Formats: sequence, C-alpha cells, structure tokens
Amino acid sequence: MENTRQYLWWQSGIIYQVYPRSFQDGNNDGIGDIQGIIKRLDYLQWLGINIIWLSPVYPSPMKDFGYDITDYTAIHPLFGSMDDFDQLLEELHQRQMKLVIDLVPNHTSDEHPWFEESRSSKDNPKRNWYIWADATVDNKPPNNWLSVFGGSAWEWDENTKQYYYHAFLKEQPDLNYREPGVVKALGEIMRFWLDKGVDGFRVDVIWHLIKDKLLRNNPTNPDYRDYMPTYDSLLPVYSTDQPEVHEIVSYMRSILDNYPERMMIGEVYLPIHSLVTYYGINNNGAHLPFNFLLLQTPWDALHISSIIDEYLSALPQNGWPNWVLGNHDQPRIRSRVGSDQAKVAAILLLTLPGTPTMYYGDEIGMQDVPIPLEEQHDAQGLNMPEKNISRDPERTPMQWDSSMYSGFSEVRPWLQIDKMADIENVEVQKKDKWSMLLLYKKLIALRRKEWSLMAGNYDCIYHDRQGFVYTRKLEGHDSFLIALNLSHRQCCFKLPEGMGGKVEVATIPELENTMVGDVIYLSGDEGVVIRLKG
Ligand code: GLC
Repeated sequence: MENTRQYLWWQSGIIYQVYPRSFQDGNNDGIGDIQGIIKRLDYLQWLGINIIWLSPVYPSPMKDFGYDITDYTAIHPLFGSMDDFDQLLEELHQRQMKLVIDLVPNHTSDEHPWFEESRSSKDNPKRNWYIWADATVDNKPPNNWLSVFGGSAWEWDENTKQYYYHAFLKEQPDLNYREPGVVKALGEIMRFWLDKGVDGFRVDVIWHLIKDKLLRNNPTNPDYRDYMPTYDSLLPVYSTDQPEVHEIVSYMRSILDNYPERMMIGEVYLPIHSLVTYYGINNNGAHLPFNFLLLQTPWDALHISSIIDEYLSALPQNGWPNWVLGNHDQPRIRSRVGSDQAKVAAILLLTLPGTPTMYYGDEIGMQDVPIPLEEQHDAQGLNMPEKNISRDPERTPMQWDSSMYSGFSEVRPWLQIDKMADIENVEVQKKDKWSMLLLYKKLIALRRKEWSLMAGNYDCIYHDRQGFVYTRKLEGHDSFLIALNLSHRQCCFKLPEGMGGKVEVATIPELENTMVGDVIYLSGDEGVVIRLKG
C-alpha cells in the first residue's frame, strides 16, 4: 500500500543551494563563510528547508570561485576551518537537516599538487593523472575541442612539450578517469567526507568525467548562432557523455552504498533521454541527476506542460524525479520570467512530483543584478564580455534586511547588492502577506505535510496556450489540483464534474480558504493549489 511506504529524506525533502560567498558574512571581510551560514540556520529551519547543498568551500585559488580545488579534504580559510565545517554539520543534524556538499571530480586547480607533479615531467608517476597529448604535425592542439569558458580546451606546456586538456579554465586541468590511481583517489576523498557524516554529494559536471579515448574531433553544431558562447559552435559528442562515464558513476554510487542513507546528485546538462541514463542501470547511478528543464524551456504553458510529461515518461522504473528552479550558473528565475510569473514558478516547483531544488534568495524574488565590467569577477563573463554570460549577476549577496549592506555584512561585499534590497529583503517580506517569501513558506509547509504533493501521481488534465491544470493523487491521502496561469491575461478552466475544493495556497492570499467549483477563473499571473473535496 502506497500510504505505508517509507520515503527517504532526499525524496521527501526540499534542497536549498547555499552559495557560500554570498549567503552570510560571519567575520566581516565582505565574503560569506561557514559561521555566517550557521548564523542563518534558524531562518532556513523557519522556512521549512531540510537539505542544504553547499557549493565548494575547499582551498582554491578561486579562479572559478572554488570549482578549482587544490585540496579536496580541507577548508579554505576564507570560509573558515574544519572545526567550523564540523560545527555546521552538527548543527544541521541537531535540527534534523541534511548536508549535501559539492564534489568536483572532473578537474583540479592547476595549483593542486597532483597537477604540479603531473606537469613536472613526462615520466612522473602522476603524468597520466591528467590528459596530455602531443601537438599535431603542424604544431596545432591535438583536436578541435573547445573550453566551456571560451577558446581552445588545450593548453601548451612548454616544459614537457605537450598539451593538456581543460574543459573549463586553463587553470582547471581535467583529471584522467581512465587512470586507476585517479579513480582510487576519488573514492578516498568521498570516504573522508562520508566518514565525517555528510549526507551526500552534488557531483559537478558528472557528464564530463570521461572523454573519447581516441580524442576524435567534435562535429560542427548546425544550429550555432553568433550570440551563443563559442563552446556551442561544436557538438561535444566526443568530449562529454561517453559510455564509460557510467562505470565511474556506479563506482561512486558503490562507495555511497556502503554508508546508510547517503545520496548523490549529478550535475547533467543533457537532453532528457541522455539525462535519465545517469540514474544508471537498475538505479545504480546518481540518485538525482539534476533536471534543469524548468531553466531551459520557454516559459509558456504549452512548452512547460509538455516538457513535464516528456520528463516523467522518460524516467526509468524507480527513478525519482527532481526539479531545479535556479542555481549559481543560470539567470535567476525572476529575471527570466518576471516578478509575477516567479510566483507561479514557485507553485510549480513545489507541486511537481519529485525533489525540488531552490537557489538561495529565490524565495524573496532576488533578481539578476547588473555588474559593471570593472567589478565583474566571473571568468566565463570576462572571457566573453560581448555575450552577456557573466554569472556574477545571479551570485549577489543575500538580502536579509534594510541595513546598509542588507544584513549580509558590515563592510562592502565582494559583489554589489541589488539596489532594491532596502525593500526587497527577508525582514520586510516576513511582515508582508503578499510577499514571495510567505508564499514559499506556505508552499514548503504544504509540500512537506502532504504526501500526495511529494509522491502522488501527476496527471495533466487540461492545458492551453495560457495555462494548465494538473492533479496530484496518492491512495489514502487528500488529492490536490493545481491551476496555473502562465500568461498575463485572465483565463478560465472548466474542471471535470464535481472536481472543486478548497484553495490551500494561492499567489493572491485573499483566495486562500475559499471554495472553488467546476470552473476556475484566474487573473493574469495567478496560480492556485486546491485541496479536492473527498
Ligand atoms: C559546474 C559549476 C560551475 C563551474 C563548472 C566548472 O558547472 O556549477 O559553477 O564553473 O562546473 O567547475
């Protein structure tokens, strides 16, 4: 019977990404840190969050803000100490909350001792830990592969007269997972953190881990347009998503499976049918290959409703769904769909089947902040300034209150704070019943209480160009109907006979607790969650 089934914490929970540089500064140096996060745990608990995904806090030269690691089993002093980390973990566990940490196995920093050894000579025992290749006969890079951050993915090493491969910055050389020593080292790193008690990993660019053994050229992308990042001019069919990657993923999974109730999220930007292969054969892969469809699909009812069915129908048996509405690499949801639609998006995220992932600040509707070129930090943006792809705008400090630096810090923070922070912040929104924050809080509470919203069947019962309506039903539990207007115009939906009920949560709080009959009338940008009558 469905209603006696036990769900695991990562199935019933809600994931909240903390970007540590920007969440809370604990020592007033303008940069967020672990003590800062600890200070804000009461807030996260109040909000109803029970899983934190923490972006990297490891030692790093910060060329890619912590995704360039020099030591996988230590903490960067900028963020605090290992004692601070242990305290964070303990305080989370005391609150019945879980900690998922970022793991970046695809590449290290070029200052990591492994790479320093590897580049020291061709016969160094760690030479093969990275991907080295000769120049072509006409002194060109070994193939046409491109870096995600612009330019060739190959960097010449004058000392040993070979190129090394870097999918991202040249300061982020890719490790070679065809080399058993690297695989073993990864296992040791995972065990170090699992032994400490972390609850899971979010694995960075998991689909990049293995590249074509023959280093064949990638083909041209026929759909490339000039405004796109140069990386998109080729289809990365030989440099990513190779069949052998699944062996590494299932190896990582086997390490986790030696510990009770740990989990692995995989970062995967791939079309649906490739994405779902990361669940592994018989679910021996990632527990949650991140699903970024809500970030990538045009925001209209026809596209969104059909992509939901496409995704759910492609899931392998027992593959648990998940949905992501924002992260530190993508424009913020409010900036993409607008302030009013961002509320509709919140309802969608928290009423779809599977685990929702939120990005810090989205719960108060933070928007992308324009950062002048001279204040920009993100290498992706700086390398391609004409493409408007800097990630700084979505990484600005959390807006806690109306004080000078928004309660984030007492000194000028590393990135500008949104000009609207005076009025758009946690303290203000806590007192405003129409706020995004209180909408999120209600949705989270309902989601965590009602099993049908977490695990019930999803059934789209109506969609048109403006909106769509779906139900969530689980045997032995109350059923819900969600009606969303993804347009700015009013619309109405006729429900099947006898399907009305009581509005539990709505974008307009005045509607809450009202009864709805067979026809639902919605204003533009309105959404409602209805508890269906018996
Ligand atoms: C992932 C991270 C991103 C980083 C990249 C390289 O996509 O989310 O922030 O720049 O990997 O590590």
